[in-house]
Amino acid sequence: MSVDPKILELRQKREEAQLGGGQKRIDQQHAKGKLTARERIALLLDEGSFQELGLFVTSRTPGVKSLYTDGVVTGYGTINGRLVYVFSQDFTVFGGSLGEAHAEKICRLMDHALKNGAPLIGLNDSGGARIQEGVVSLGGYADIFLRNVMASGVIPQISAVMGPCAGGAVYSPAMTDFILMVKDTSYMFVTGPDVVKTVTHENVTFEELGGAMVHNEKSGVAHFAAENEEHCIALIRKLLSYLPQNNMEEPPAVRCTDDPLRADEVLDTLVPDSPTKPYDMKEIIHRVVDNGEFFEVHEHYAQNIIVGFARLNGRVVGIVAQQPMVLAGCLDINASVKGARFVRFCDCFNIPIITFEDVPGFLPGVGQEHGGIIRHGAKLLYAYCEATVPKLTVITRKAYGGAYDVMSSKHIRGDLNFAWPTAEIAVMGPEGAVNILYRDELAQAPDPEALRQKLVADYRAHFANPYIAAGRGYIDDVIEPRQTRARLIAGLEMLQNKRDQNPPKKHGNIPL
Ligand code: HXC
Repeated sequence: MSVDPKILELRQKREEAQLGGGQKRIDQQHAKGKLTARERIALLLDEGSFQELGLFVTSRTPGVKSLYTDGVVTGYGTINGRLVYVFSQDFTVFGGSLGEAHAEKICRLMDHALKNGAPLIGLNDSGGARIQEGVVSLGGYADIFLRNVMASGVIPQISAVMGPCAGGAVYSPAMTDFILMVKDTSYMFVTGPDVVKTVTHENVTFEELGGAMVHNEKSGVAHFAAENEEHCIALIRKLLSYLPQNNMEEPPAVRCTDDPLRADEVLDTLVPDSPTKPYDMKEIIHRVVDNGEFFEVHEHYAQNIIVGFARLNGRVVGIVAQQPMVLAGCLDINASVKGARFVRFCDCFNIPIITFEDVPGFLPGVGQEHGGIIRHGAKLLYAYCEATVPKLTVITRKAYGGAYDVMSSKHIRGDLNFAWPTAEIAVMGPEGAVNILYRDELAQAPDPEALRQKLVADYRAHFANPYIAAGRGYIDDVIEPRQTRARLIAGLEMLQNKRDQNPPKKHGNIPL
């Protein structure tokens, strides 16, 4: 049967559009170890689920070549059967640069995502504002930024940076919830190496200025570093499996294949006898959560605090924990900001927060004080205070000073606060306390070291334990470490219909 010429014309136009900027540029993209915009979408979404919108959109700026899609493929589809909206910038079309029509397509998609309450995923690969379109491109970025902010806390927004993202191209990802970067092929910077050289005379490569590990380890701008594009896309799919579609939904629960009552004897001996000896908090997390599966976020940044997602009896939880193996688990500027952002994300999206605490306090030092540890530490305190999702805390060892208050203590609406028998809850550690309280006695003692040891032992016996806090009711129970999983699961069940809210206000004023 012959096909109608109009249908043939449509098919031909579609085929042309599939090629973006043409085969030569597609080959160049592949030669760089990068996938095309369409290949990325095909990997990301469930097979055959992609529904494209705006295929025939072209630039209407005089002097700019008319190319279908205008450099961005937009549409919707499903991931594990759940609706998502996705835009994927096409570097083969004007370097993925953002002009008026390109921006409008993204904005339309964002409006859909917000109205229909489903996550927005941006696959970014762009030279930034399209130079030929001038201020209209800047306007296009601002239109997107506004929508990023309107959608913040309503739908999850995920940005994968899969190429060189410069200028305005970095600020939209910066306002989304999670940024993933691909090692060796993705870069983010406000101004590139050439501009840096002109202005500051610094010689720096793309990689050194804004590569994946720079932003994962040093700046903290990115939350995940993928080995390659396939890995990046697998990470997005995994991340979404922990998130609700929007702020009105609960995160997706699964049937649990791990015994909710499973007791783990190893936990009883995991915290060393010596209070100065480190241990790996991640081992505790793995031993407590369902099937040992912990999906860590911001793994390479501020490693003295650990954040990420896991499940307990099939229900999603956000985990915040100190890592005694790094800076003894102290809270410093970077750890406070990392923790605060994660706590706020969980609170936005109805994800209960489990805190594993072993914190000697805020990190002392001139650098920290002058860097604003007061202001930055306050962010974490603010975030925990403000959060109304179920908050459960397990103090494994140290909970000293202000850090005791900060880490989801009872006083700031911690719902359930448990301590292990190894917990030490006090204003400060024994050494520091003895030096302050007994300065004169120690100075005059014939054998100051012997006296110090005795006083430290006395202090430890009287103050560095969980029972004073438990006696006050600040700790709901002192539990055997092996029971942690069962107690947390029972607690989460008890709290599953928790309703709590903050006073009506326009918004709070978190110390930024
Ligand atoms: C128009 C652009 C473009 C842009 C790249 N292209 N960026 N076209 N506007 N912003 C085009 C190139 O001319 C080229 O076209 C094609 O895309 C591929 O680019 P190449 O340079 O050949 O690729 P590569 O060597 O991989 O370098 C990629 C790059 C570089 C690092 C992104 O192109 C670059 O530095 N671009 C400019 C980045 C930038 O300064 N953007 C403006 C930022 S200001 P042909 O036809 O030759 O293949 C901004 C303001 C917004 O964004 C602020 C809001 C807060």
